[in-house]
Amino acid sequence: MSYLYLVVIIWAAMVTPTRTESEQLSSLTQELLNSAREPQFFEWLKRVRRRVHEYPELAFEEFNTSELIRSELDSLGIEYRWPVAKTGIVASVGSGVEPWFGLRADMDALPIQELVEWEHKSKHKGKMHACGHDVHTTMLLGAAKLLQYRRHKLKGTVKLVFQPAEEGYGGAYHMLKEGGFHKFQGIFGLHISPAMPTGEIGSRPGPILAAAGRFIAIIKGKGGHAALPQHTRDPVVAVSSAILALQQIISRETDPLVARVISLGFIETGQALNVIPETVRFGGTLRSMTTEGFIYLQQRIKEIIETQAVVHRCSATIDFMEEKMRPYPAVVNDEVLYEHVKRVGESLLGEPNVHLVPMAMGAEDFSFYSEKMAAAFFSIGTKNETIEAVNRLHSPYLVIDEDVLPIGAALHAAVAISYLDNNAVETQ
Ligand SMILES: *[C@@H]1O[C@H](CO)[C@@H](O)[C@H](O)[C@H]1NC(C)=O
Ligand SMILES: *[C@@H]1O[C@H](CO)[C@@H](O)[C@H](O)[C@H]1NC(C)=O
Ligand SMILES: [Zn+2]
Ligand SMILES: [Zn+2]
Repeated sequence: MSYLYLVVIIWAAMVTPTRTESEQLSSLTQELLNSAREPQFFEWLKRVRRRVHEYPELAFEEFNTSELIRSELDSLGIEYRWPVAKTGIVASVGSGVEPWFGLRADMDALPIQELVEWEHKSKHKGKMHACGHDVHTTMLLGAAKLLQYRRHKLKGTVKLVFQPAEEGYGGAYHMLKEGGFHKFQGIFGLHISPAMPTGEIGSRPGPILAAAGRFIAIIKGKGGHAALPQHTRDPVVAVSSAILALQQIISRETDPLVARVISLGFIETGQALNVIPETVRFGGTLRSMTTEGFIYLQQRIKEIIETQAVVHRCSATIDFMEEKMRPYPAVVNDEVLYEHVKRVGESLLGEPNVHLVPMAMGAEDFSFYSEKMAAAFFSIGTKNETIEAVNRLHSPYLVIDEDVLPIGAALHAAVAISYLDNNAVETQ
């Protein structure tokens, strides 16, 4: 009897904590969501988001947005480091002890004229928060507030990262370069998705977004009269061969089960119909689901353009724009952190509302964090047909269902708090 009794006790001891753990998680997530949905809290979130939305600022120019964030952090009594990468902010909630866990939002808008007619339409002509970074910023401020209320209970430190210049200029790279991230054990990022209804989130373990970069090539020949081609070296023919050859990298050199893209977006040369021009400029984008694949594409693009130029007695230069528009590595989700966020999301939103989504060829500079630490990147739905929140990202007609704000704030906070709970350094 006593042996069996002991086995039962041990079994109960092993099983009970997991049940309590999931009950604890559920009470945490529901408490956070309820707080964020309280009318006063929700109204504050909407006010912040609308203010950020009305005054969009482009990459590395987010001075007023950054100031607005700092003034909210000041009123919450949260300390921060600033400026990091010109306009960026790294705020801290908690005691400063490890583990450190990061939550990230981006602040920049796009050079797009907003075409949605509403009370809080962009007041800056030709600029718009058409990628939802106003929402990201607000959700993270919401998380800051939720975390600050609970700061004495945190088993470590949450770092709130507000970064500039996600759209093409690698703000994340510059944040990391300025340092202060070496103690981060993990980082979590959210991006709105107008393809998914409000109240749902999605992601996948491993690679999720592509490594992406750009190139501009110039093929130089010798111009002349179109009637006398023998006195010229025609760069138009060279560029034609080069472009067809580039498209064969994907069809002939790439595993058909591996995703890669090369697309050319522009060709620019002379205007006269009877003149062979001296040079042709052309360029495009290259993408791959792996950073290695991306490097391979870069090498082959360079070889093919240079060699095709030589075939046609021309010369070529290729610029991958690594300084100004630094290529983005692939976003790769850490499997353990992905599982953690998935579990927290299921607890917050219900299991059927957390989706496994396919990989996509889009790119995000969150990848720079994912190269340096455990990282998880999730999409959060903002689609709502009732209010016509259905248009895609980067559309001048993008409308957001603001019900996402408390959900995103609670998710951010819950992911961080439970991460610290699970990874707290034991002290006696
Ligand atoms: C930033 O704020 C200042 C002071 O309120 C204002 O004069 C300026 O126009 C704002 N700039 C932008 C780009 O919003
Ligand atoms: C869509 O918006 C309407 C109006 O604000 C709201 O009543 C409804 O709950 C929203 N639907 C979802 C799925 O959030
Ligand atoms: Zn974007
Ligand atoms: Zn974006």
